[in-house]
Amino acid sequence: MKILVIGSKGQLGHELVNHCKNSGIKVSGFDLPEIDISSRDQVEKIISDTAPSLVINAAAYTLVDKAESDEITAYAVNKTGPGNIAESCRKTGIPLIHISTDFVFDGKKNNPYLESDKVSPLSVYGKSKAAGDDAVRDILNQHIIIRTSWLYGVYGNNFVKTMIRLGKERDELNVVADQYGCPTCAADLARAVLSTAAHIHDKKETIWGTYHYCGKGITSWHGFTEAILEYAGQHIPLKTKKVNAITTAEYPTPAKRPSYSALDCTRIQENFGISQESWKESLKKTIDKIISADKG
Ligand SMILES: NC(=O)c1ccc[n+]([C@@H]2O[C@H](COP(=O)([O-])OP(=O)(O)OC[C@H]3O[C@@H](n4cnc5c(N)ncnc54)[C@H](OP(=O)(O)O)[C@@H]3O)[C@@H](O)[C@H]2O)c1
Repeated sequence: MKILVIGSKGQLGHELVNHCKNSGIKVSGFDLPEIDISSRDQVEKIISDTAPSLVINAAAYTLVDKAESDEITAYAVNKTGPGNIAESCRKTGIPLIHISTDFVFDGKKNNPYLESDKVSPLSVYGKSKAAGDDAVRDILNQHIIIRTSWLYGVYGNNFVKTMIRLGKERDELNVVADQYGCPTCAADLARAVLSTAAHIHDKKETIWGTYHYCGKGITSWHGFTEAILEYAGQHIPLKTKKVNAITTAEYPTPAKRPSYSALDCTRIQENFGISQESWKESLKKTIDKIISADKG
C-alpha cells in the first residue's frame, strides 16, 4: 500500500503521516504551498508524480467563523478541492478517503446522527463541506467519506490547547454549555482512517460511501472544558478555579453551529470492524503529549 496524504501539515494529516511511518506504510504527504487542492493541475501533477495506491484528503478550510466572510476561499478549498482530487482519482483508478464534518447537520436531532440523515448545514463552512462531499460522490465511485467531529490533537491549534492556555491565564472561564457533540482525538481518527485504508487495500469487499467516526461519549463544550482543566491541572499549575456554563446566545459567533452533532458510528464498526475510543481516555493521553511537547 502506498498512501498519498493531502493536508499533511494539519491536525489529522500530521497524525496520518506519523502513523504510516511508524507502521512501515509507504507514505507521501503534501500540503500548502506544495499543493493547492483548488488547482486541478497541481492535484493531477502530485497524484501522477507520487502514483499512490490510495489517496487520503485531510486538507480543508477549517476556520469556521472566518468562512462566513471568506466564502470564495472556503468553497475553493472545501468543494472545488475534493472535486479535483476525486476527478484525478477517477482518471487513474485510485480510491479516495475524504474527511468531512458533523457541521453538515443542523443539530435539530436529539439522538446521534446516522450517515443517511439529511444534511442541512447552518454555516458557510458546513455548506462548503457538504458541497465537497457531493462532488466526491458524483465523480468517484471508489470513495469513502468519513465524517468526524470536534477534532483535537497534539499538532496545530485546537480547543484543548486553547483551554489549557486560558486555564493558565484566567481565574474564571465562560464556556458554552448548550452545544453537544463528540470530541475526537486526531490520533484515534488517523488509526480509524488507516484501518479503513487497509481494508480497501486487502481487497475485502468494500462497501463504498459515507461513514462516521468520532470519540465515544457525548459532552458539551463546557463539559469538555471541565475535563480538560481537571486533568491538565493534575500535571501543571492552572489559575482557573471556575468554569461558568453559558448559552450560545451569550457567546455570539459569526457562524451558526449545530446545538447537537453527535455521530452514530455503528456503520464503520459493522463494515470495517473499527471501534470508537472513549473521548475522556483519549483526552488524557493527548494532554500528556501536549504537556510534554510544551516542556520541549
Ligand atoms: N477541526 C475540527 O474540529 C474538525 C471537526 C470535524 C471535521 N473536521 C474535518 O477533518 C479534516 C481535518 O481537519 P483538521 O482539523 O486536521 O484541519 P487543519 O488542521 O485545519 O488542517 C487542514 C490542512 O489543510 C491545509 N489546506 C488549507 N487549504 C488548502 C489548500 N487549498 N490546498 C491544500 N491544503 C490546504 C491547511 O493548511 P493551512 O493551515 O496553511 O491553511 C492545513 O494544513 C477536515 O476535512 C475537516 O473539515 C475537522
